[in-house]
Amino acid sequence: MSSKTHISVKNLNVNYGEQKILNNISLDIPDKKITAIIGPSGCGKTTLLKSFNRLLDLQEGIRVEGQVFVDGEDIYHPKTEITHLRKRMGLLSQRPQVLPMSIYDNVVYGLRVHGAKDKKILDGAVERYLKEANLWSEVKDRLHASAVKLSIGQQQRLCLARGLAVEPEIILGDEPTSALDPLSAELIEQRFLELKDKYTIVLVTHILRQAKRLADYVVFLYLGDLIEHGPAEQVLNNPKYLKTQNYVSGKFIEEPAIEKEIVLKKLNSSEAQKQIKQALEKLKVGQAMRVVVDDEKSVRQITQFLEADGHKILELKRLNLVDWDIIVQKSEGIYAI
Ligand SMILES: Nc1ncnc2c1ncn2[C@@H]1O[C@H](COP(=O)(O)OP(=O)(O)OP(=O)(O)O)[C@@H](O)[C@H]1O
Ligand SMILES: [Mg+2]
Repeated sequence: MSSKTHISVKNLNVNYGEQKILNNISLDIPDKKITAIIGPSGCGKTTLLKSFNRLLDLQEGIRVEGQVFVDGEDIYHPKTEITHLRKRMGLLSQRPQVLPMSIYDNVVYGLRVHGAKDKKILDGAVERYLKEANLWSEVKDRLHASAVKLSIGQQQRLCLARGLAVEPEIILGDEPTSALDPLSAELIEQRFLELKDKYTIVLVTHILRQAKRLADYVVFLYLGDLIEHGPAEQVLNNPKYLKTQNYVSGKFIEEPAIEKEIVLKKLNSSEAQKQIKQALEKLKVGQAMRVVVDDEKSVRQITQFLEADGHKILELKRLNLVDWDIIVQKSEGIYAI
Protein backbone atom coordinates (compact mmCIF):
# COMPACT_ATOMS: atom_id res chain seq x y z
CA MET A 1 0.00 0.00 0.00
CA SER A 2 1.41 3.35 -1.00
CA SER A 3 0.12 5.41 1.90
CA LYS A 4 1.62 5.28 5.39
CA THR A 5 0.23 2.67 7.80
CA HIS A 6 -1.72 4.12 10.71
CA ILE A 7 -3.14 1.06 12.44
CA SER A 8 -1.39 -2.27 12.12
CA VAL A 9 -2.99 -5.46 13.38
CA LYS A 10 -0.77 -8.50 13.86
CA ASN A 11 -2.09 -12.00 14.52
CA LEU A 12 -5.08 -10.78 16.44
CA ASN A 13 -7.19 -13.49 18.06
CA VAL A 14 -10.30 -12.71 20.05
CA ASN A 15 -12.10 -15.42 22.00
CA TYR A 16 -15.17 -15.44 24.14
CA GLY A 17 -14.78 -18.52 26.34
CA GLU A 18 -14.37 -21.37 23.88
CA GLN A 19 -15.88 -19.38 21.03
CA LYS A 20 -13.47 -17.86 18.51
CA ILE A 21 -14.65 -14.44 17.42
CA LEU A 22 -11.64 -13.30 15.40
CA ASN A 23 -9.13 -15.75 13.93
CA ASN A 24 -5.60 -14.58 13.47
CA ILE A 25 -6.26 -11.29 11.77
CA SER A 26 -3.32 -9.36 10.30
CA LEU A 27 -4.00 -6.12 8.53
CA ASP A 28 -2.52 -2.68 7.86
CA ILE A 29 -4.85 0.31 7.77
CA PRO A 30 -3.49 3.28 5.84
CA ASP A 31 -3.34 6.84 7.09
CA LYS A 32 -5.88 9.41 5.86
CA LYS A 33 -7.95 7.00 3.83
CA ILE A 34 -11.33 5.42 4.37
CA THR A 35 -11.18 1.71 5.09
CA ALA A 36 -14.52 -0.09 5.17
CA ILE A 37 -14.99 -3.34 7.07
CA ILE A 38 -17.75 -5.39 5.47
CA GLY A 39 -19.25 -8.82 6.05
CA PRO A 40 -22.42 -10.54 7.18
CA SER A 41 -23.92 -10.10 10.64
CA GLY A 42 -21.94 -11.73 13.42
CA CYS A 43 -18.70 -12.05 11.42
CA GLY A 44 -16.73 -9.89 13.87
CA LYS A 45 -16.81 -6.38 12.36
CA THR A 46 -17.68 -4.58 15.60
CA THR A 47 -15.20 -6.71 17.54
CA LEU A 48 -12.38 -5.81 15.15
CA LEU A 49 -13.25 -2.12 15.36
CA LYS A 50 -13.36 -2.20 19.15
CA SER A 51 -9.96 -3.86 19.28
CA PHE A 52 -8.49 -0.63 17.85
CA ASN A 53 -9.19 1.45 20.94
CA ARG A 54 -9.27 -1.35 23.50
CA LEU A 55 -12.99 -1.16 24.04
CA LEU A 56 -13.01 -4.96 24.22
CA ASP A 57 -11.25 -4.66 27.59
CA LEU A 58 -14.53 -3.52 29.09
CA GLN A 59 -16.28 -6.79 28.24
CA GLU A 60 -16.02 -9.63 30.67
CA GLY A 61 -14.99 -13.03 29.33
CA ILE A 62 -13.33 -11.65 26.19
CA ARG A 63 -9.73 -12.69 25.64
CA VAL A 64 -7.56 -10.75 23.22
CA GLU A 65 -4.24 -12.10 21.91
CA GLY A 66 -1.92 -10.58 19.36
CA GLN A 67 -0.97 -7.00 18.74
CA VAL A 68 -2.46 -3.78 17.48
CA PHE A 69 -0.08 -0.92 16.71
CA VAL A 70 -1.32 2.65 16.40
CA ASP A 71 1.39 4.93 14.96
CA GLY A 72 3.80 2.11 15.71
CA GLU A 73 2.86 1.90 19.41
CA ASP A 74 1.65 -1.48 20.69
CA ILE A 75 -1.65 -0.54 22.32
CA TYR A 76 -1.98 -3.83 24.20
CA HIS A 77 1.35 -3.26 25.90
CA PRO A 78 0.80 -3.05 29.69
CA LYS A 79 2.36 0.42 29.75
CA THR A 80 0.01 1.92 27.17
CA GLU A 81 -2.22 4.56 28.65
CA ILE A 82 -5.78 3.85 27.59
CA THR A 83 -7.24 7.34 28.12
CA HIS A 84 -4.52 8.81 25.93
CA LEU A 85 -5.14 6.14 23.29
CA ARG A 86 -8.91 6.69 23.25
CA LYS A 87 -8.43 10.45 22.90
CA ARG A 88 -6.75 9.74 19.57
CA MET A 89 -9.89 8.07 18.26
CA GLY A 90 -13.42 9.31 17.89
CA LEU A 91 -16.05 6.57 17.87
CA LEU A 92 -19.46 6.82 16.26
CA SER A 93 -21.72 3.96 17.17
CA GLN A 94 -24.78 2.60 15.48
CA ARG A 95 -27.19 4.65 17.59
CA PRO A 96 -26.10 8.18 18.48
CA GLN A 97 -25.17 8.50 22.12
CA VAL A 98 -25.71 12.14 23.01
CA LEU A 99 -25.22 13.19 26.61
CA PRO A 100 -28.33 14.46 28.45
CA MET A 101 -27.24 18.11 28.33
CA SER A 102 -27.34 21.01 25.88
CA ILE A 103 -26.04 20.90 22.32
CA TYR A 104 -23.27 23.31 23.35
CA ASP A 105 -22.23 21.25 26.36
CA ASN A 106 -22.16 18.08 24.28
CA VAL A 107 -19.70 19.56 21.79
CA VAL A 108 -17.28 20.85 24.42
CA TYR A 109 -17.66 17.90 26.78
CA GLY A 110 -14.30 16.37 25.88
CA LEU A 111 -12.55 19.75 25.86
CA ARG A 112 -13.78 20.49 29.38
CA VAL A 113 -12.68 17.05 30.56
CA HIS A 114 -9.24 17.99 29.27
CA GLY A 115 -9.32 21.27 31.19
CA ALA A 116 -10.57 23.94 28.72
CA LYS A 117 -12.49 26.73 30.50
CA ASP A 118 -12.12 29.93 28.47
CA LYS A 119 -15.54 30.89 27.09
CA LYS A 120 -14.12 32.35 23.87
CA ILE A 121 -12.24 29.13 23.13
CA LEU A 122 -15.28 27.00 23.92
CA ASP A 123 -17.61 29.20 21.81
CA GLY A 124 -15.16 29.01 18.94
CA ALA A 125 -14.92 25.24 19.22
CA VAL A 126 -18.70 24.82 19.25
CA GLU A 127 -19.06 26.76 16.00
CA ARG A 128 -16.09 25.15 14.31
CA TYR A 129 -16.93 21.53 15.09
CA LEU A 130 -20.66 21.87 14.48
CA LYS A 131 -19.71 23.25 11.08
CA GLU A 132 -17.30 20.38 10.51
CA ALA A 133 -20.09 17.96 11.34
CA ASN A 134 -22.56 19.65 8.99
CA LEU A 135 -24.93 20.65 11.81
CA TRP A 136 -24.21 24.33 12.55
CA SER A 137 -26.84 25.93 10.32
CA GLU A 138 -29.57 23.75 11.82
CA VAL A 139 -28.80 24.43 15.50
CA LYS A 140 -26.96 27.76 15.72
CA ASP A 141 -30.01 29.53 17.19
CA ARG A 142 -30.62 26.96 19.92
CA LEU A 143 -27.22 25.91 21.16
CA HIS A 144 -28.43 25.78 24.74
CA ALA A 145 -31.43 23.56 24.01
CA SER A 146 -31.29 19.95 25.09
CA ALA A 147 -29.46 17.63 22.71
CA VAL A 148 -31.93 14.84 23.38
CA LYS A 149 -34.61 16.81 21.51
CA LEU A 150 -32.69 16.69 18.23
CA SER A 151 -33.67 14.24 15.51
CA ILE A 152 -31.66 11.01 15.41
CA GLY A 153 -29.79 12.20 12.32
CA GLN A 154 -28.91 15.49 14.03
CA GLN A 155 -27.86 13.62 17.17
CA GLN A 156 -25.45 11.51 15.14
CA ARG A 157 -23.90 14.66 13.63
CA LEU A 158 -23.66 16.12 17.13
CA CYS A 159 -21.78 12.99 18.23
CA LEU A 160 -19.46 13.51 15.27
CA ALA A 161 -18.89 17.15 16.35
CA ARG A 162 -18.19 16.03 19.93
CA GLY A 163 -15.73 13.42 18.66
CA LEU A 164 -13.96 15.88 16.35
CA ALA A 165 -13.65 18.48 19.13
CA VAL A 166 -11.03 16.45 20.97
CA GLU A 167 -9.01 16.42 17.75
CA PRO A 168 -8.58 12.72 17.23
CA GLU A 169 -6.40 11.26 14.49
CA ILE A 170 -8.73 8.40 13.75
CA ILE A 171 -12.49 8.20 13.33
CA LEU A 172 -14.07 4.82 13.94
CA GLY A 173 -17.64 4.37 12.75
CA ASP A 174 -19.70 1.29 13.57
CA GLU A 175 -22.52 1.38 11.02
CA PRO A 176 -22.92 5.07 11.89
CA THR A 177 -25.68 5.73 9.38
CA SER A 178 -27.77 2.61 9.87
CA ALA A 179 -30.28 4.23 12.23
CA LEU A 180 -30.56 7.42 10.15
CA ASP A 181 -32.98 8.63 7.49
CA PRO A 182 -31.46 8.78 3.96
CA LEU A 183 -30.84 12.52 4.06
CA SER A 184 -29.02 12.45 7.40
CA ALA A 185 -27.08 9.42 6.23
CA GLU A 186 -25.99 11.35 3.17
CA LEU A 187 -24.87 14.31 5.31
CA ILE A 188 -22.69 12.01 7.40
CA GLU A 189 -21.29 10.30 4.29
CA GLN A 190 -20.39 13.67 2.77
CA ARG A 191 -18.57 14.64 5.93
CA PHE A 192 -16.57 11.43 5.88
CA LEU A 193 -15.45 12.07 2.31
CA GLU A 194 -14.28 15.54 3.29
CA LEU A 195 -12.77 14.54 6.62
CA LYS A 196 -10.49 11.89 5.17
CA ASP A 197 -7.99 14.57 4.16
CA LYS A 198 -7.32 15.03 7.86
CA TYR A 199 -8.29 11.76 9.54
CA THR A 200 -7.88 8.05 9.12
CA ILE A 201 -11.40 6.66 8.95
CA VAL A 202 -12.42 3.07 9.61
CA LEU A 203 -16.01 2.38 8.88
CA VAL A 204 -17.99 -0.77 9.57
CA THR A 205 -20.85 -1.11 7.16
CA HIS A 206 -23.04 -3.86 5.83
CA ILE A 207 -24.24 -1.62 3.02
CA LEU A 208 -22.17 -2.49 -0.03
CA ARG A 209 -23.25 0.63 -1.86
CA GLN A 210 -22.00 2.73 1.04
CA ALA A 211 -18.65 0.96 0.89
CA LYS A 212 -18.56 1.68 -2.86
CA ARG A 213 -19.33 5.35 -2.33
CA LEU A 214 -16.87 5.93 0.47
CA ALA A 215 -14.13 3.39 0.79
CA ASP A 216 -10.59 3.55 -0.52
CA TYR A 217 -9.86 0.11 0.94
CA VAL A 218 -12.17 -2.74 1.89
CA VAL A 219 -11.73 -5.54 4.41
CA PHE A 220 -14.08 -8.51 4.04
CA LEU A 221 -14.62 -10.62 7.15
CA TYR A 222 -16.52 -13.90 7.29
CA LEU A 223 -17.06 -15.97 10.44
CA GLY A 224 -14.12 -14.32 12.19
CA ASP A 225 -11.71 -14.80 9.27
CA LEU A 226 -10.23 -12.05 7.17
CA ILE A 227 -11.04 -13.29 3.69
CA GLU A 228 -9.90 -10.38 1.57
CA HIS A 229 -8.38 -6.92 1.96
CA GLY A 230 -7.41 -4.53 -0.77
CA PRO A 231 -8.33 -1.45 -2.78
CA ALA A 232 -12.11 -0.95 -2.72
CA GLU A 233 -12.39 -1.10 -6.48
CA GLN A 234 -10.75 -4.52 -6.56
CA VAL A 235 -12.48 -6.12 -3.55
CA LEU A 236 -15.95 -4.87 -4.50
CA ASN A 237 -15.84 -5.19 -8.28
CA ASN A 238 -13.28 -7.84 -8.96
CA PRO A 239 -12.67 -9.86 -5.80
CA LYS A 240 -10.01 -12.53 -5.81
CA TYR A 241 -11.60 -15.15 -3.62
CA LEU A 242 -14.77 -17.21 -3.87
CA LYS A 243 -16.39 -16.12 -0.60
CA THR A 244 -15.94 -12.44 -1.42
CA GLN A 245 -17.29 -13.03 -4.92
CA ASN A 246 -20.39 -14.68 -3.46
CA TYR A 247 -20.89 -11.95 -0.87
CA VAL A 248 -20.52 -8.93 -3.16
CA SER A 249 -22.79 -10.47 -5.75
CA GLY A 250 -25.48 -11.12 -3.15
CA LYS A 251 -25.26 -14.93 -3.21
CA PHE A 252 -25.07 -17.30 -0.28
CA ILE A 253 -21.50 -17.69 0.81
CA GLU A 254 -20.22 -21.08 -0.24
CA GLU A 255 -17.64 -23.18 1.51
CA PRO A 256 -15.69 -24.67 -1.38
CA ALA A 257 -16.06 -28.48 -1.48
CA ILE A 258 -12.59 -29.87 -0.87
CA GLU A 259 -11.67 -33.11 -2.64
CA LYS A 260 -8.12 -33.43 -1.42
CA GLU A 261 -5.76 -32.03 1.15
CA ILE A 262 -1.98 -31.93 1.21
CA VAL A 263 0.26 -30.63 3.96
CA LEU A 264 3.58 -29.23 2.80
CA LYS A 265 5.82 -28.36 5.68
CA LYS A 266 9.54 -27.78 5.76
CA LEU A 267 9.84 -28.39 2.04
CA ASN A 268 11.85 -26.44 -0.49
CA SER A 269 9.83 -24.82 -3.20
CA SER A 270 10.65 -27.24 -6.02
CA GLU A 271 9.65 -30.23 -3.88
CA ALA A 272 6.47 -28.43 -2.87
CA GLN A 273 5.62 -27.65 -6.49
CA LYS A 274 6.23 -31.25 -7.49
CA GLN A 275 3.86 -32.55 -4.82
CA ILE A 276 1.19 -30.03 -5.74
CA LYS A 277 1.39 -30.96 -9.42
CA GLN A 278 1.07 -34.63 -8.60
CA ALA A 279 -1.93 -33.96 -6.38
CA LEU A 280 -3.58 -31.77 -9.01
CA GLU A 281 -3.23 -34.49 -11.60
CA LYS A 282 -5.51 -36.68 -9.51
CA LEU A 283 -8.24 -34.02 -9.48
CA LYS A 284 -10.83 -33.33 -12.14
CA VAL A 285 -11.17 -29.86 -13.62
CA GLY A 286 -13.38 -27.78 -11.29
CA GLN A 287 -12.50 -29.75 -8.14
CA ALA A 288 -10.75 -28.03 -5.24
CA MET A 289 -7.85 -28.99 -3.00
CA ARG A 290 -6.53 -27.60 0.26
CA VAL A 291 -2.80 -27.00 0.53
CA VAL A 292 -1.42 -26.29 4.00
CA VAL A 293 1.98 -24.57 4.06
CA ASP A 294 4.09 -23.31 6.89
CA ASP A 295 5.58 -20.02 5.83
CA GLU A 296 4.55 -16.81 4.22
CA LYS A 297 7.22 -16.93 1.54
CA SER A 298 6.04 -20.29 0.21
CA VAL A 299 2.45 -19.03 0.24
CA ARG A 300 3.47 -16.37 -2.24
CA GLN A 301 5.55 -18.72 -4.38
CA ILE A 302 2.90 -21.43 -4.46
CA THR A 303 -0.02 -19.16 -5.26
CA GLN A 304 1.99 -17.50 -8.02
CA PHE A 305 2.93 -20.77 -9.58
CA LEU A 306 -0.65 -22.10 -9.35
CA GLU A 307 -2.07 -18.96 -10.94
CA ALA A 308 0.60 -18.99 -13.64
CA ASP A 309 -0.63 -22.48 -14.52
CA GLY A 310 -4.15 -21.13 -14.86
CA HIS A 311 -5.62 -22.54 -11.63
CA LYS A 312 -7.86 -20.46 -9.44
CA ILE A 313 -7.17 -19.62 -5.81
CA LEU A 314 -10.55 -19.77 -4.07
CA GLU A 315 -9.30 -18.83 -0.65
CA LEU A 316 -6.09 -17.91 1.12
CA LYS A 317 -6.18 -17.91 4.87
CA ARG A 318 -3.72 -17.60 7.70
CA LEU A 319 -4.46 -20.37 10.20
CA ASN A 320 -2.09 -19.44 13.03
CA LEU A 321 1.31 -17.86 13.49
CA VAL A 322 2.96 -20.14 10.92
CA ASP A 323 0.44 -22.07 8.87
CA TRP A 324 -1.58 -20.98 5.87
CA ASP A 325 -4.40 -22.59 3.95
CA ILE A 326 -4.50 -22.27 0.19
CA ILE A 327 -7.66 -23.54 -1.47
CA VAL A 328 -7.07 -24.03 -5.16
CA GLN A 329 -9.51 -25.06 -7.84
CA LYS A 330 -8.16 -27.05 -10.72
CA SER A 331 -8.65 -25.39 -14.08
CA GLU A 332 -7.85 -26.75 -17.47
CA GLY A 333 -4.64 -24.74 -17.45
CA ILE A 334 -1.59 -26.45 -18.82
CA TYR A 335 -3.15 -29.86 -18.29
CA ALA A 336 -5.48 -29.36 -21.22
CA ILE A 337 -4.10 -30.82 -24.41
N1 LIG B 1 -19.31 -9.66 24.63
C1 LIG B 1 -19.57 -10.73 23.90
N2 LIG B 1 -19.89 -11.87 24.47
C2 LIG B 1 -20.14 -12.99 23.77
N3 LIG B 1 -20.11 -13.05 22.44
C3 LIG B 1 -19.84 -11.95 21.79
C4 LIG B 1 -19.54 -10.72 22.47
N4 LIG B 1 -19.31 -9.77 21.55
C5 LIG B 1 -19.45 -10.38 20.36
N5 LIG B 1 -19.77 -11.68 20.51
C6 LIG B 1 -19.97 -12.66 19.41
O1 LIG B 1 -18.92 -12.50 18.49
C7 LIG B 1 -19.37 -12.61 17.16
C8 LIG B 1 -19.02 -11.36 16.39
O2 LIG B 1 -19.76 -10.26 16.91
P1 LIG B 1 -19.68 -8.79 16.31
O3 LIG B 1 -20.58 -7.95 17.09
O4 LIG B 1 -18.26 -8.39 16.23
O5 LIG B 1 -20.25 -9.03 14.84
P2 LIG B 1 -20.65 -7.97 13.73
O6 LIG B 1 -19.96 -8.42 12.47
O7 LIG B 1 -20.40 -6.60 14.20
O8 LIG B 1 -22.22 -8.23 13.56
P3 LIG B 1 -23.41 -7.19 13.20
O9 LIG B 1 -23.30 -6.95 11.71
O10 LIG B 1 -24.64 -7.97 13.54
O11 LIG B 1 -23.22 -5.97 14.02
C9 LIG B 1 -20.86 -12.88 17.24
O12 LIG B 1 -21.06 -14.26 17.13
C10 LIG B 1 -21.24 -12.39 18.62
O13 LIG B 1 -22.32 -13.10 19.10
MG1 LIG C 1 -21.63 -4.98 14.61
